[in-house]
Amino acid sequence: MKIAFCCTNTKAEPWLEAFRQALPGVDIWEWQAATPGQAPKLADHAVVWSPPQSFIDEQTQLQNLFNIGAGVDALLKLNLPASLNIVRLNDAGMSVQMAEYVCHAVIRYFREFNHYDKDQIEQRWSYRKPAWRADFPVGVLGAGVLGSKVAQALKQFEFPVNVWSRSPKQLPGLTSYTGLEQLPAFLKASKVLVNLLPLTPDTENILNHAHLSQLQAGAYLINVARGKHVVDQDLIDLLDQGHMAGATLDVFRVEPLPPEHAFWKHPKIVVTPHTSARTLREESVAQIASKIKAVYAGQFIEGRVDKVRGY
Ligand code: NAP
Ligand code: GLV
Repeated sequence: MKIAFCCTNTKAEPWLEAFRQALPGVDIWEWQAATPGQAPKLADHAVVWSPPQSFIDEQTQLQNLFNIGAGVDALLKLNLPASLNIVRLNDAGMSVQMAEYVCHAVIRYFREFNHYDKDQIEQRWSYRKPAWRADFPVGVLGAGVLGSKVAQALKQFEFPVNVWSRSPKQLPGLTSYTGLEQLPAFLKASKVLVNLLPLTPDTENILNHAHLSQLQAGAYLINVARGKHVVDQDLIDLLDQGHMAGATLDVFRVEPLPPEHAFWKHPKIVVTPHTSARTLREESVAQIASKIKAVYAGQFIEGRVDKVRGY
């Protein structure tokens, strides 16, 4: 079995070593573009993150691309042969990180820790009136691997929680909304909006003025999916006009976020550097290795991407 490793911004050696341990006898190498006139070494499968088109064009015998992330939007922008399967990570230690990040952000707003931070700077001892949990409903866009874990974690803190997805969900204690026709009702029922949608042609720019302005007054946005879901200026306008009270943003249209971008210094915005749920090497290698074994055993594997649907 031959595997090419082609992951942008990733130190290859520890991954190659971990795959060699998990799949003894595997021939795995870090891909480098072949020098002109030299026949490329062809792999059966590839482990990838944001590979260049030249990798796909050169590697003509690939059966499966194993993406070392949950989102496959960067892969689907490439020109891919119809026969090539894309397999995404299913959780692999990401959902608990996402639950930590989102619960932290929601609780920070609910308990007004952002105000206590300022009070400490001014040495002010001042209680804030406890808010009603019933007045703090959270809407989670996307109820897949990550969204459903986040929604259930928020429910543990007794917030009212709604989810929005394409297909109806039956998650204990949560209200499920589906499709564009139920989006307005879902937004009107949300004080905090958490975005965990994949980036697809249907979801790009979904966090725009028309949708965000339907949230309850004094709303908060927590975007942990992709920057291209948000229309940046629409968010800034709604924050400046006071309809929205704050935003916690982990992902951006351009990453790293350019130094001149208004988000950096906006008083109502918290910026983190695409870190809400990191790919964990040990869990990811174990998951991909077990999927590769399942492929050879002719078994079903989770995480096969539907290229038409886009996730
Ligand atoms: P997933 O399991 O594929 O879940 C996607 C969810 O979105 C599903 O519930 C799906 O509905 C829903 N959905 C998709 N298109 C929709 C549409 N047009 N209308 C309504 N609902 C729609 O994905 P996941 O593993 O939870 O990951 C979600 C995203 O998180 C990834 O794509 C990635 O962009 C992002 N992410 C970010 C980080 C980070 O560090 N910031 C880390 C990991 C992942 P159905 O259930 O009905 O299909
Ligand atoms: C990270 O953003 C991922 O999609 O896994």
